[in-house]
Amino acid sequence: MANRGKVTKAIFPVAGLGTRFLPATKSIPKEILTLVDRPLIQYAIDEARAAGIREFIFVTARGKSALEDYFDHAPGLESSLRRAGKDEMLETLRKTNMESGAIAYIRQHRALGLGHAVWCARNLIGDAPFAVMLPDDVIASQKPCLQQMIESHAETGGNMVAVMEVAKSQTSSYGIVDVKEDMGALVSVRGMVEKPETSAAPSNLAVIGRYILNPSIMRHLGRMKPGAVGEIQLTDAIATEITEADNVYGYRFSGKRYDCGTKAGYLQATVAFALARPDLADEFGDFLSTIVAAKDAAQ
Ligand code: G1P
Repeated sequence: MANRGKVTKAIFPVAGLGTRFLPATKSIPKEILTLVDRPLIQYAIDEARAAGIREFIFVTARGKSALEDYFDHAPGLESSLRRAGKDEMLETLRKTNMESGAIAYIRQHRALGLGHAVWCARNLIGDAPFAVMLPDDVIASQKPCLQQMIESHAETGGNMVAVMEVAKSQTSSYGIVDVKEDMGALVSVRGMVEKPETSAAPSNLAVIGRYILNPSIMRHLGRMKPGAVGEIQLTDAIATEITEADNVYGYRFSGKRYDCGTKAGYLQATVAFALARPDLADEFGDFLSTIVAAKDAAQ
């Protein structure tokens, strides 16, 4: 049955080791790495807040305490900025403050996969649909991606995953949907496969890290066996939901997605976000033009 309850809770799986960013991630959670001057996790939180999320559930792990500190208020810092009359900085800092009790932290005790991480939050979800946001996927758009999805979900109910077309050769990096009906922005989905080889991929429509899920997904996750790469996969639980309830949609969001889980994607996002900043655009843009011209001349 379509569950059209309001989406006010979001799960942020942030337990990953971030090995692609070693040695930095030896002591810093990758979600604290910055795009210009804002940690990756701040982009996900801002997107969630803009979409009406009020409860934030972080699934963390050992070594991630810097994330909890980041979301704590910093009264000492705030009062010294106030004394120094640095109102603009004070405002920037205040915008990151979270309401008391709005964030819950749950630990994933073993790295058993994304599906297992989401399942760790099962007792905090209640009986309304909830969002899952993967902070590695940073999406620049006029209307925040999750908000686009929540608006569409208000019409469809069911479960919804963000999707975008990827090169056929890239399917083994993603969850890939099998399209039942293509309705434009919205597609209905008849199956989902995690990280298929190109030859086995049902399409080139890939799942991007934004989900709106019914609580029944938690029941499926509790029964999941390890799947692709030996991990408990969220994709497999959603595939089970399709066979039981046939109520899964893909949503082609508008916006540009950066894969900040890879070095190349992270660098691209850094450049794009710097160029979008009025305080940096001119100087940084000039610098980029100069080094690109120098590189072309050397070739
Ligand atoms: C995860 C999901 C995958 C999805 C991807 C999007 O994979 O398991 O289905 O397509 O995020 O970024 P990961 O990138 O964690 O391997």
